[in-house]
Amino acid sequence: MKVGVLTGGGDAPGLNAAIRAVVLSALSRGDEVVGFLDGWKGVQDNLTIPLDREWVQDIHEVGGTNLGTSRTNPMKSEDTMKAVENHFRENGLDVLIAIGGDDTLSVAAELDRRGFPVVGVPKTMDNDVPETDYCIGFDTAVNRLMESIDRLRTTSRSHHRVMVVEAMGRDAGWVAGFGGLAGGADVILVPEIEVDLDDVAQRLEKVRSRGRSYAIVVAAEGISFGEAQVPENAKTDAFGHVILAEKAVGERLAQEIESRLGWETRSIQIGHLHRGGSPTAFDRILGTRYGEKAVELAHNNSFGQMVVLHGLDLTTVPLAQIAGKTKTLYPQFIELIQNLNA
Ligand code: F6P
Repeated sequence: MKVGVLTGGGDAPGLNAAIRAVVLSALSRGDEVVGFLDGWKGVQDNLTIPLDREWVQDIHEVGGTNLGTSRTNPMKSEDTMKAVENHFRENGLDVLIAIGGDDTLSVAAELDRRGFPVVGVPKTMDNDVPETDYCIGFDTAVNRLMESIDRLRTTSRSHHRVMVVEAMGRDAGWVAGFGGLAGGADVILVPEIEVDLDDVAQRLEKVRSRGRSYAIVVAAEGISFGEAQVPENAKTDAFGHVILAEKAVGERLAQEIESRLGWETRSIQIGHLHRGGSPTAFDRILGTRYGEKAVELAHNNSFGQMVVLHGLDLTTVPLAQIAGKTKTLYPQFIELIQNLNA
């Protein structure tokens, strides 16, 4: 069997473990493996590299993706989809394993619809791909946030400040929610719940009235503010969220908190630090399990499927079922956050 593999969308720690598992598992079954560089761009432009045991040696501990990635989406035009189809055939692929988030997997779903043999593997630090408990990269991103909060607590305690920590996560509060809980943040704000600045101020005031001189607020980058709190001429960003004072969400919050409470406040964006560096053991194991399972599916002619984790078990769902959908933070975690928050 000739197996193709690509990684698309934002990079995430654990991708290399998945690539390694695809290659080792395929080679041990007597397959040939070809990697496409930079996600769907590699298929569109036919940028390929043969993958062997030497190429994947020790890459499981390395962050990012050694195949490179891009946000190229060939579905933007029929010409680019045709280029993808042609290169799929020219390379004589028996299966293409696409590792990525919603955008990447939607292209895989479209290829499946057009009759090409594909298998999907969910990866995104946002953890918002539906039908799976965990996506590659999420656990590492959560751990990075937790470690950052632990560090930021000592400086905010020393200076008696509020620290606003802005986490990545445009459409879902998984990273902010889990990282904030693990880091014991006083207030956690997620995109699933519209932010009420008065409520944030009240919660922090309670913290202060209990005699604490510092506080930690975690806010996902995708939070939105209520209409009443928004100036009339406010702009909205690409996701329809209001851009307040053209500032990052964390900065804006910090400003509001300081002016409402007279409590010195600083803000920090975790940004790409979420995604940089070595994966956690969880992400290495998850990537390894997903990669191996994807090859197994191909050998069972089980195409058009995405590998998913349910509890400890690996299973599959049709790519068509998840394409274009977002898994937002589950209500039980929102409830937990709200019950603990100040
Ligand atoms: O989708 C993953 C993610 O890290 C989001 O949380 C974030 O908004 C976005 O990617 C950042 O994208 P880029 O790396 O292209 O700046």
